[in-house]
Amino acid sequence: MKGAGKLSVSSREQSHESYLRPFVVTRMHEDDLSLVVEIEEQSGLNRWGYDAYRRELLTNANAVMFVARNLYPGPSIIGFLAGWTVEDEMHINNIATHPEYRRMGVGESLMDAAIEESWRHGARYVLLEVRASNESAQLLYRKLGFSFVARRRDYYRFPTEDAFVMKLEMK
Ligand SMILES: CC(C)(COP(=O)(O)OP(=O)(O)OC[C@H]1O[C@@H](n2cnc3c(N)ncnc32)[C@H](O)[C@@H]1OP(=O)(O)O)[C@@H](O)C(=O)NCCC(=O)NCCS
Repeated sequence: MKGAGKLSVSSREQSHESYLRPFVVTRMHEDDLSLVVEIEEQSGLNRWGYDAYRRELLTNANAVMFVARNLYPGPSIIGFLAGWTVEDEMHINNIATHPEYRRMGVGESLMDAAIEESWRHGARYVLLEVRASNESAQLLYRKLGFSFVARRRDYYRFPTEDAFVMKLEMK
C-alpha cells in the first residue's frame, strides 16, 4: 500500500531500516509495558496506564500495538503506538516517542508499521484525534499524508482543549 511514508515494518519483527537507524519497530509484548507506561507519563498524554495497555494487548483482537526498540545503550523501548483496526478503519489511540529520542524517525516508523499492519487486516483509512495545540504531532501526521477533517470542541481534559480529527485515506 501507499500513502504512509517510506518504509514499514513488520510482522517479521525486524526492519531493514535497522542498518540505518538505531532502532527497530516490532510488535509490543507484555514485557514492554512498564517502559511504555513510563514514556506515556513523560509525554503529556491523557493517561491510559499499565492495566489498560495490558488489557488491550492481551484481550483485544483488534489492537494494533507496536514499540520502537533501541539497539544501543539506554532505554530498551524508545517509542510506542496503540491503535485499533475495526473493519475498514484504523484508529490511532496513542503514540509517543521517548523525549530524548525525538526527531529521529521513531514516530514516523511506528505510524508506518501500524498503517501497514492495519492495511493487511482490511483497513482503508486511518483516523485520529490530536490536541489543537500539538503542532509536532500534526506535522508528523501531515508528513504522512493525513488531512484535517473536523474539530471537536473541548474533546480533551487536563487541560480542556479542542481536538482536530485527522484522516489518511490509504491507497
Ligand atoms: C509527536 C511525536 C510522537 C513525534 O515523534 P518523533 O519520533 O519525534 O517523530 P519523527 O522523528 O518520526 O518525525 C517525523 C516527522 O514529523 C514532523 N515532526 C515531528 N516532530 C516535530 C517537531 N517537534 N517539529 C517539527 N516537525 C516535527 C517532521 O516532519 C518529522 O520529519 P523530519 O524530522 O524529517 O522533519 C513526539 O513528538 C511525541 O511523543 N510527542 C508527545 C506525545 C504526543 O504528542 N503524541 C501524539 C498524540 S496525538
